[in-house]
Amino acid sequence: RADGPLAGRHAIVTSGPTHEPLDPVRYIANRSSGAQGAAVAAALVALGARVSFVTGPAAVPPPEGVEAIRVETARQMQAAVQAALPADIAVFAAAVADWRMRETPRGKIKKTSGGVPALDMVENPDILSEIAHLRDGRPALVVGFAAETEDVVAQATAKRARKGCDWILANDVSEGTGIMGGADNAVTLITEAGPETWDRMAKDEVGRRLAARIAEALS
Ligand code: C5P
Repeated sequence: RADGPLAGRHAIVTSGPTHEPLDPVRYIANRSSGAQGAAVAAALVALGARVSFVTGPAAVPPPEGVEAIRVETARQMQAAVQAALPADIAVFAAAVADWRMRETPRGKIKKTSGGVPALDMVENPDILSEIAHLRDGRPALVVGFAAETEDVVAQATAKRARKGCDWILANDVSEGTGIMGGADNAVTLITEAGPETWDRMAKDEVGRRLAARIAEALS
């Protein structure tokens, strides 16, 4: 939409899980469906933004109108985000795997008698932190997500400071909330002004509200 409040703006949105291979046939993943990231991206498109949508192997397809960049691992996601810069807005909704194998064998790990393989892992790059701490070419607004299971606001407030992002959208993904993989979300938006808890609502509506706040902040 050429007449939307975000017309002429470029947004990068990361979404979905990442898959970190153990060997050619196995991987480590997480339960992210990619629904919230897709909802944010769709809402940004609706407000006129050009959206680079960097997605891991998600359960939901990329929304219409985005430029979808499909990746598998955290390091591929990092490279795709860097390649998509510069941007005015960056929203990191992906559930990036924290670790990957130090080395992945060429062949399938064999089930040997009397033992389980030790997984020698290393930390993945923190894409949000890296982009939020850019000295040159930092997007004007960097938004992170925080999936917590306890002390949601305190944890997310600390995370906002640590990661250097402008806003954190925190949600409680503890068991029984049905949020991971579900249609609804219950979020607290943490900005420089402090925490603001929203009513439980559909992920699509969370996306629209966040996009509206982004447009307001950049106007
Ligand atoms: O530290 P934690 O994973 O809880 O932080 C969540 C936020 O950081 C999310 O916005 C997520 O997309 C982002 N993140 C990232 N790269 C990582 C880990 C998390 O961009 N390696």
